[in-house]
Amino acid sequence: MSTKTEFASKIGLIAATVGSAVGLGNVWRFPAEAQANGGSAFLLLYILCVLILGVPVMLAEFSLGRSTRSDSIGAFRKLTPDKPWWIVGATAVVASYLILCFYMVVAGWTLEYLWGSISGELYAGIENLGESEMRGFFNGKMEYYVQSEYRPVMFLSIAIAINIGILLGGVQKGIERLSNILMPVLFVILAVMVVVSLALPGAGAGVTYFLKPDFTKITPISVVNALGQAFFSLSLGMGILITYSSYYPKNTNLMKTSIIVSLLSLLVAVMMGLVIFPAFKSFGLDSEPMQGATLVFVTLPEIFARLPLPQLWSTLFFLLLAVAAITSTISIAEVSIATLQDRLHIGRKKAVLTILLPLAVLSALPSLSFSSLSDIKIFGLTIFDFLDSFSTNILLPLVSLGVCVYIGWILPGKFLRDELTNHGHLHAWPNTIAQQIIRYVAPLLIILVFIYNLL
Ligand code: PFF
Repeated sequence: MSTKTEFASKIGLIAATVGSAVGLGNVWRFPAEAQANGGSAFLLLYILCVLILGVPVMLAEFSLGRSTRSDSIGAFRKLTPDKPWWIVGATAVVASYLILCFYMVVAGWTLEYLWGSISGELYAGIENLGESEMRGFFNGKMEYYVQSEYRPVMFLSIAIAINIGILLGGVQKGIERLSNILMPVLFVILAVMVVVSLALPGAGAGVTYFLKPDFTKITPISVVNALGQAFFSLSLGMGILITYSSYYPKNTNLMKTSIIVSLLSLLVAVMMGLVIFPAFKSFGLDSEPMQGATLVFVTLPEIFARLPLPQLWSTLFFLLLAVAAITSTISIAEVSIATLQDRLHIGRKKAVLTILLPLAVLSALPSLSFSSLSDIKIFGLTIFDFLDSFSTNILLPLVSLGVCVYIGWILPGKFLRDELTNHGHLHAWPNTIAQQIIRYVAPLLIILVFIYNLL
């Protein structure tokens, strides 16, 4: 067990964890949620939720992973071998696998759009279109890219192949090395896009809408949504952070790491807002809903089409989206891979292939549910939407609640204190606050959100 793989450097472990956190949640879910819940008011709530709740729950997961150096089931088994708390870890594995099934589909779409942008296929024929015809044109493209029978499944296979390639490289040479390269790329592209968007005529009004707080817009629903968004975007409740932190060296400062990861994830969401809101305002689209998929696959291509050099902006944006998606899918897949490796004592190659090859079939189902399987409904939802809402609205809060109760009430208080202070080597005061939040505030709020989601 002492030969457990570790991330090679501090920068590497932060890049990998930020890579997991920064994903579709920040890029397309955040602007949609912000628009639906009062813009800047939502941003404020989201920041509060990330810092007050996200950071402590992240610390709870980190302490489980780093102390036990185990997968998300093994962590609970090691600490309380005679009790059934490992079920929380097992639920995390199931949740992460279900999420992977639809997340990988979207990763495939981003590659499809990236290819469409590079090859020019996505924009072929726009020169003959009037402004009013653009929407129909890109809606048609999305239908073709997302709903045709074979094409999305082909790009889904490419996304899975990329994941297999990275994950076969292992923790240091695969996940860490790739994150070290891709995360700076993501930030540079995003910075360029912010500058371009802010330079558009009339962009200032969009910035004001996004950044000037309007407290009258805050409702109980926006609080629930901000909390859900914070958990989703920080990759909480899926065993990802338990798994990644099991590769953290023993001297890692968990508090510092969790704050850096949360702030960087927040930064990406805010930068994304600074791309989307000014651009929408500038093109007079601000009354249109920024619904996730439509936002990135229809409205943004329409905006790129109206700019000089559409192919360039489109390529940069879909590269950013693909990077965000792939660095997240590898972390989601790693939960199951680590579990197989640790529980069944099998080699990495076997574990990677056992998890990802069946995914090609399992993910094809949600992908095809946009076309040939669209009649199959579970509780009135397509397979894709069912997986999305069941895992994110039900399993994710359940696991987070389980983790908080476990750390806050089942394990002795000394456990978290020792982990957060590296056994007395680091300052203690913020840890006391984290401990109280994990014990009382987080469980209460998670239960409220859970009840709300069920109703
Ligand atoms: N945090 C990533 C995102 O925001 O896209 C990855 C992720 C985590 C996706 C948790 C889904 C999820 F439930």
